[in-house]
Amino acid sequence: MDSRGDPYRRAVEEYLASFGRSGTELPQSALYDAMAYSLNAGGKRLRPVFVLEFCRLCGGDWEKALPLAAAVEMVHTYSLIHDDLPCMDDDDLRRGRPTNHKVFGEAMAVLAGDGLLTEAFSQIAGAELPAEVRLKAAAVLARCAGPQGMVGGQALDMKSQERECTEAEVLAIQSRKTGALIRAACQMGVLAGGGGERELSAAGEFAEKLGLAFQIRDDLLDAIGSARELGKATGVDGEKNTFLRLYGQDACQEMVEKLTEEAVGALSVFPDWAALAELARSLTTRRS
Ligand code: IPE
Ligand code: IPE
Ligand code: MG
Ligand code: MG
Ligand code: MG
Repeated sequence: MDSRGDPYRRAVEEYLASFGRSGTELPQSALYDAMAYSLNAGGKRLRPVFVLEFCRLCGGDWEKALPLAAAVEMVHTYSLIHDDLPCMDDDDLRRGRPTNHKVFGEAMAVLAGDGLLTEAFSQIAGAELPAEVRLKAAAVLARCAGPQGMVGGQALDMKSQERECTEAEVLAIQSRKTGALIRAACQMGVLAGGGGERELSAAGEFAEKLGLAFQIRDDLLDAIGSARELGKATGVDGEKNTFLRLYGQDACQEMVEKLTEEAVGALSVFPDWAALAELARSLTTRRS
């Protein structure tokens, strides 16, 4: 893998594009258009890259894990479509394009999210992997994406906007809304590659630290980044409960770097982790 995650990214792009085309003959092709619009709009594809690289690190055939990689990207994309809705963050720009509801309307955007979430589990069920792996992967994704994970974090994020949160409360929001899906990606990769408890726990630790670093950098980019590079509006989360609001820009960048080194430290149980460490470190200075 190079520092952009190729060849994984290319393979994921092809896989997702082919899913997007699969509904063109159906009566509900408009729903597929809405799903494909957001799914095939680029994005860094970090979570699928994590699935595939952890699979390889555990000695598995990464191509067999592609449906799992697609599944986590579908759940992530659905979370973005819903996150952008007027009843949530009310954003107009995502992945360099008008947001899903701006193009297809709110009802279709809600349904596109619903469709992607459900399709994700169909992808896992249909993967060419042992039944036990598919079952465990589905359980990990469900737990990390659901009320204990991403959806739980989004609920806390929405509720917390009425007041200023403590550090512990911000941590509780961020580890769920962002960290949990990154954890799902890393641990699904371990499962697909045939790793055991030791690898699952190391991947979980990597994800926890990296997920937090990733969200802190996301919040920092809201303040210092550009919409052109990010593909989404900036300067919109100033009132949100973030580490940025608690500690300011310099301390946050230091936290991003420290957490990333801690994440990299968790990789030592795997052979040949240098490429993943390089990718993780490149995220500390990402502009998009
Ligand atoms: C954006 O995620 C939402 C957060 C969890 C911070 P990404 O920054 O991974 O978005 P894409 O997939 O590259 O568009
Ligand atoms: C989003 O956090 C996390 C999820 C979508 C689950 P943000 O609201 O900060 O993400 P962006 O900045 O809109 O991408
Ligand atoms: Mg949000
Ligand atoms: Mg948002
Ligand atoms: Mg953000």
